[in-house]
Amino acid sequence: MGITFPEGFLWGTATSAPQFEGASTTGGKAEHVWDYWYKKTPELFHNQVGPEHTSDFYHNVDRDMEGMKQLKLNSFRTSISWSRLMPDGSQVNEEAVRFYRYLFKSLHNNGIKPIVNLYHFDMPLSFHKKGGWESRETVFAYSHYACTAFSLFGDLVEDWVTFNEPIVPIEMGYLNDKHLPAIYDMKKAVKAAYHTMLAHAMAVKEFRRQSGVKIGIILNLSPVYPKSDSSADRMAADYADLFFNRSFLDPAVKGTYPDELINWTKELGIVPPVAKEDLAIIKENTVDFLGVNYYQPRRVQQPVKRENGLSLDAYYSSYEWPERRINPYRGWEIYEKGLYDIAVRIKEEYGNLPWFVAENGIGVEGEERFADHNGDIQDDYRIEFISEHLKWLYKGITEGSNCYGYHVWTFVDNWSWLNAYKNRYGLFRLDLNTKERQIKKSGKWFRVLASENELPE
Ligand code: BG6
Repeated sequence: MGITFPEGFLWGTATSAPQFEGASTTGGKAEHVWDYWYKKTPELFHNQVGPEHTSDFYHNVDRDMEGMKQLKLNSFRTSISWSRLMPDGSQVNEEAVRFYRYLFKSLHNNGIKPIVNLYHFDMPLSFHKKGGWESRETVFAYSHYACTAFSLFGDLVEDWVTFNEPIVPIEMGYLNDKHLPAIYDMKKAVKAAYHTMLAHAMAVKEFRRQSGVKIGIILNLSPVYPKSDSSADRMAADYADLFFNRSFLDPAVKGTYPDELINWTKELGIVPPVAKEDLAIIKENTVDFLGVNYYQPRRVQQPVKRENGLSLDAYYSSYEWPERRINPYRGWEIYEKGLYDIAVRIKEEYGNLPWFVAENGIGVEGEERFADHNGDIQDDYRIEFISEHLKWLYKGITEGSNCYGYHVWTFVDNWSWLNAYKNRYGLFRLDLNTKERQIKKSGKWFRVLASENELPE
């Protein structure tokens, strides 16, 4: 006997338009920041492979629908490209409408639930040039885009998501150089984060006005574990949790920002400009569900450098936990119990909100070395990775956590930001030259899991 998941549990894969669609300069699509960045500095991208080199889903919907059926998926999490749907920021591109309507109809016809996200790191270049999330104009433009998408596709899509991992472009773009604008500026980071949250809440408001069915947000929640029980280490963990988890989780689910976060921005003099109506919009427009991306936890200790409050180093330091297991092919820690800890936390601290795993998966550099003589990738490590996470997830569910689905990152190996095709995540392997897709051992295994709704012990 295996482990049986609740009836109707969603078994899906996840991907995003900028990493999967291709056709980055055709079909009326305008440039987004990644197209632009790659054009300017291709050498920053792994093997100089840019966002036009994808599996070209745009021209392969029928073929990939067969792949989804082969996997027995009942859910598919993807995103709409803002710069494709509204290339000039206001007019609708009819070719994009035809493409997305065809996709959502095909999913329906095959019994696969579309979970549709509106934004996956792909800021249209025109808005980036006007300040991106630092500008309130982008907030209104996004809200208009969201409203347009709901009315164009609301008859075909019930489950909507406003943002994927909204903290990532903030952390990687304003406190690091891995996303644009690639600067280090805490004040701008806070402003951009606040505007993203406001855009989210305005989209939820529009959605309810149009009587939409369900809307949520996808957050990368990493449980934070302190190095020791000392008060300094615990305080460091509380800060990391505040910055990376609660800064979006609390306003999205509870409708309010944590007091600690507000006080911190006041102490540093980096309170963002808040208009009179903003906080009421955030308060009144909380989510119906949460999507959680989980890859690895954060392990922290008291800060090594304390002097400068405008640097995160002043609040915590990362540390290498000696017992941790590392994925040798990607360098990320593997800690399956983290998913259980998230399940318990949502139940205990966030009103047992319905939630699903929106991304979980293992990246493998040089995965070709695991191909057998037929070219089939023998990815037993992926099967083990998914199984062990599912066991912990199941424990959380049996203890009452309201989780209703699991999505593997990803369906077909996809392009990923600066890493391009360095790390492969798919249940299908992609041949970058021929665009052929070939099911991996994990894909065949996932098919049985999804069709039986049962994890073999
Ligand atoms: C996730 C993102 O956090 O990490 C994905 O949502 C991304 O967009 C994935 O592709 C894997 O990242 P990487 O750097 O290992 O390719």
